[in-house]
Amino acid sequence: MPAFFVKHIKPICFTLCSLPLAYLAMLFFTDQLGANPIERITRYSGTWALRMTLITLMATPLQRALGAVWPFRIRRMLGLFGFFYVTLHLANYIVLDQFFDGYEIYFDLVERPFIMAGMAAFLLLIPLAVTSTKKMMRRLGKRWKQLHRAVYLIAALGVLHYFLLIKLGWFEPAIYLLVYLALMLMRMPIRETLSKIFKPRQVTDPR
Ligand code: HEM
Repeated sequence: MPAFFVKHIKPICFTLCSLPLAYLAMLFFTDQLGANPIERITRYSGTWALRMTLITLMATPLQRALGAVWPFRIRRMLGLFGFFYVTLHLANYIVLDQFFDGYEIYFDLVERPFIMAGMAAFLLLIPLAVTSTKKMMRRLGKRWKQLHRAVYLIAALGVLHYFLLIKLGWFEPAIYLLVYLALMLMRMPIRETLSKIFKPRQVTDPR
């Protein structure tokens, strides 16, 4: 990896993660969001929320594969950008889509399972965002790692949310599901598990 890239990894990551927002702002201010701007913003922010969550999950396998520390240096920023895009997605839904109509939102939550899955993912994300600081990391110690494992469930709920809302054309959510499964597989200690399964059993001679 070029030294320049490694040295400036944080500003590079920040710029790249801000690009989807800049593009959305450009479409908004130039009136290019199409016939249904609210739906466009919801879909766009939802897609980026899911992408950022999965990209965050890539940090550990990447760090292991490259033996480099830079993926860990941007992991928190990636996670927080994921949270940012989910919050934008939710804010757009509550403010522009539902006009703060609590009854409609409640109705959606109980009647539409995809809203329930999305909301569950969002609620699980809050404690992760709150405890993402170095201070909280130190304070929580071992429990920090355990708490942050919730990101696997959050990503699964994000993919489920997508599957549940799609009416036709399962291709896109299926791609996200495959990426999620591949990332989960990479985390498994495959070699150790296989060697446990195929370990020759010790046979004692009865004689
Ligand atoms: C916070 C609670 C959430 C609410 C209320 C919510 C609501 C919605 C709504 C209303 C749609 C549009 C459905 C349609 O067009 O028929 C949508 C789409 C979507 N949402 Fe969410 N969502 C939430 C959380 C999430 C989370 C946590 C993720 C991912 C991490 C996510 C990812 C997506 C994706 C990928 C789409 C589809 C985009 C597309 O059609 O291309 N959402 N969501």
